[in-house]
Amino acid sequence: DGKCPYHRESVGDGEVSRRPMTVRDWWPDSLDLRILHQDPVAARPSHVPHPSCTTVAAATAAIIGPSSSAHASYAENFSRLDLDALRNDIHAALTTSHPSWPADYGHYGPLMIRLAWHSAGTYRVFDGRGGGNSGNIRLPPLNSWPDNGNLDKACRYILWPIKRKYGQSISWADLIILAGNVAIESMMGRWGEVQPLWFGGGRVDAFAPEEDIYWGHEPEWLKDDRHAKGKNLDVVLEEPLGAVQMGLIYVNPEGPGGNPDILASAKDIRETFGRMGMNDFETVALIAGGHTFGKAHGAAEASKYVGAEPEGAPINQMGLGWKNSYLSGKGRDTITSGLEGAWTANPTKWDSGYFHLLFKYDWMQSKSPGGATQWVPTMESINANGGPDVVANVPDAHEQGTKHFPIMFTTDLALRYDPIYGPISQLFHLNQDKLTEAFKKAWYKLCHRDMGPISRHLGPYLPKEPLIWLDPIPSADYDIITTDDVQHLQNLVLDAVKQSKVSISDLVKAAWASASTYRCTDHRGGANGGRIRLDPQINWEVNDPVSLANVISFLETLKESFNDYQNQNNRTTRVSFADLIILAGNTAIEEAARKAGHMNVKVPFVAGRADALQSDTDVNSFAALQPSMDGFRNYEGKVGRPEASLIDRAHLMTLTTPEMVVLVGGLRVLNANTDQSLVGVLTDRPGTLDNAYFINLLDENTTWLPLGDGKSFQGNRPMGEPWTASRVDLVLGSNAQLRAVCEAYACADSSQYFLRDFVSSWTKVTMLDRFDLLPTYRAN
Ligand code: HEM
Repeated sequence: DGKCPYHRESVGDGEVSRRPMTVRDWWPDSLDLRILHQDPVAARPSHVPHPSCTTVAAATAAIIGPSSSAHASYAENFSRLDLDALRNDIHAALTTSHPSWPADYGHYGPLMIRLAWHSAGTYRVFDGRGGGNSGNIRLPPLNSWPDNGNLDKACRYILWPIKRKYGQSISWADLIILAGNVAIESMMGRWGEVQPLWFGGGRVDAFAPEEDIYWGHEPEWLKDDRHAKGKNLDVVLEEPLGAVQMGLIYVNPEGPGGNPDILASAKDIRETFGRMGMNDFETVALIAGGHTFGKAHGAAEASKYVGAEPEGAPINQMGLGWKNSYLSGKGRDTITSGLEGAWTANPTKWDSGYFHLLFKYDWMQSKSPGGATQWVPTMESINANGGPDVVANVPDAHEQGTKHFPIMFTTDLALRYDPIYGPISQLFHLNQDKLTEAFKKAWYKLCHRDMGPISRHLGPYLPKEPLIWLDPIPSADYDIITTDDVQHLQNLVLDAVKQSKVSISDLVKAAWASASTYRCTDHRGGANGGRIRLDPQINWEVNDPVSLANVISFLETLKESFNDYQNQNNRTTRVSFADLIILAGNTAIEEAARKAGHMNVKVPFVAGRADALQSDTDVNSFAALQPSMDGFRNYEGKVGRPEASLIDRAHLMTLTTPEMVVLVGGLRVLNANTDQSLVGVLTDRPGTLDNAYFINLLDENTTWLPLGDGKSFQGNRPMGEPWTASRVDLVLGSNAQLRAVCEAYACADSSQYFLRDFVSSWTKVTMLDRFDLLPTYRAN
């Protein structure tokens, strides 16, 4: 009938909802490339910094060109911010009740802590995804998760006027975390007298929902279809998920699946907090510290009174959800989690009340007015402690003079009864100062775990001490190598290649192994620090430990002899291993390009990386960065779809589809596979950097047949030995979107474009972690 198909999506009077079928609807198993092109520049106003400006583009701009000059970087905006004025404004807003959403106890501090915690708490170590570094709690699905109930009010009523005032000098993501800090400071003592907590700015807002984060596959809120029996018949939670049920931040407060089993609940807590990189000590400090403040809200049954979440709510609610029709729908009639009550007698003060009451009473199960299972002191406890009038010492949040019994969740009792959490809780119970110290540190970790190294944290309130979970890299106490030094070192590397001491492919592999651990999700990994020569990376199977050891020993010797020479000749420059491994990789690529007839290719190089020590490296936490597959090196690992993993790794390195494709093609002809396997090395001249891979992959005369191992394929061609290739190789030719890119590199007129794009994509990967080149702000 001539209508635009998108108009049909709405359901008006008598109109049927007709969402157009998409490619993914027709072929749900087809490779999903959307994660490589998410949060497009087109989705945000031009004056709002895009993440690529503040991370990748700004760093690479230093060598590739000012591609990001269209945007002022967020770091620059932030540097103009009067942070203390902002902190004062936040404090004033937290202590001024808004009639649309009256503050419990006259203070929004607890609500704001919950907002910051839920914003940061989705982080998980396995893929570095989640967390508060993109302000994604403003966007679906997180803005509508059941566990985030009524946090929309914290953003809209309390923080929006502040965001409006400060504009682009503070992102939503930073504002949410800062508001959590101000809330804690405000309740820790008199405002203005309390030392500000550690805070680092630098989070850049997302403007579109993140496509790359797997939150689980259950089609219903609060469903749990993510536990299975493990090898030892333990119940295991699907990786990489960080929460036990769909739509929860971590665990169910009532116990696993709603079952009030205290010890089982402790297991869930340990598993999920562990997936955020928290140990038992930090976990206890966080939960106890958090529940020292505020209350739970369950004035009545949610299913009867609470309306749709923000994404499903009627348009006139303007993005606010969970409209509550119970009495006034707010204040003391609020329904959020369905649990009801507070943990301590002073819910807006930092004190020892939480552990004091947790250990003082015995607890029995009870039901909130909302119908949820929670715990209250037993009658024996009440009688033994002076009777109901004494034990009911928790003030009402809105009615002066009214008092309640304290409550605990099943998860709170886990801190007392779990055999590991119990003693830690006792320690904190007897030493409030220890709890204060541990809570502050764990809070900083919680809110900054996804921000990457300290050089990405902006502002005057940064920790002075090195923190191992920030993967510290010591500052250089020497001058950085000059252009002449670089040329000299490149000559020495070339000599070694010519004398066959080390091969082009080994140098390329080592540089790739070093740089490609970077993940944009939490800004960990990368070449800086030279951690490729340290445990655990040096032993990862994907890195071919034996050939890697040879390259490392060659480079270490070169580094030492160069630095000794500089020393003996009173020269101040020194080379780091981290710089040298990239420089050697670049040198190998230039040589491979020369072999292809491109005599003047220069791979951009910016020195300045420094070397970390083993003692700067948390071996356990680095294990999460180990690739289980790597399609760039045709390393198949053990589980999963290699082609999907290629897309995943490409996303972690912020690669676009063409960048990913050109890197695969280039790395194959450079013979950079793990194990030096010839799978996918579709060239008769390995070690020569040309577009042969794409030409041969798309050769219409080659017939590809699956081999018996179920993983690889044989390509029979009219002339020459058959090729072998992996699923990753063949998907480049079979997936229409990827094939289109391959074709662009296989054409007769593409060889120089292939080379140009390969060099620039390679350079991008080697520069992903060069935060040291970004504008930073240090007030002191
Ligand atoms: C409130 C669960 C850990 C801070 C709540 C509520 C629930 C809950 C159900 C009530 C929400 C409402 O009805 O308004 C849990 C569970 C945790 C956990 C199951 C982990 C086992 C934490 C942590 C923090 C925290 C780590 C912060 C460090 C708070 C605060 C409130 C709260 C401040 C009060 C909010 C208000 O007064 O509006 N929590 N929480 N919680 N939680 Fe947690």
